[in-house]
Amino acid sequence: MDRKNFLNSLSGGLALTCVSCMMAACEKDSTPVDGGPTPDVSLDLSTQLTGVGDFVAINSIIVVRTATGNQASSFKAFSNVCPHQAGTISYDKTSTVFTCATHGATFNQSGSVTKGPATSNMTTRIVTVTGTKLTV
Ligand code: FES
Repeated sequence: MDRKNFLNSLSGGLALTCVSCMMAACEKDSTPVDGGPTPDVSLDLSTQLTGVGDFVAINSIIVVRTATGNQASSFKAFSNVCPHQAGTISYDKTSTVFTCATHGATFNQSGSVTKGPATSNMTTRIVTVTGTKLTV
């Protein structure tokens, strides 16, 4: 085998190896658990978020109950990563305001910017409620 053929066979092998690695990575991320991907947040509404205004901050997500009833529309969920420069956002139940600790941007309960320097709204997450189980 000459040098050119050797290099061609080597690069083909690497490409197959890379494709194989990428496929394995994709398979890992999409492997269903109990019929779907593992949620970032899973809460029991019989013991958590029982009152309007209650919130949970877990796995970089903030979930707030905004209304009574166990349906998805009674909750808001957002990433706690600030859209300005990725500072950490926290929630104040009393004022119902989200505040970024890094530069002080604030957001209302809908995740809309109410004070800069952030110019984009918070990133919303989809809430699903089945019975008393809430997942994000
Ligand atoms: S990182 Fe949040 S206001 Fe700057």
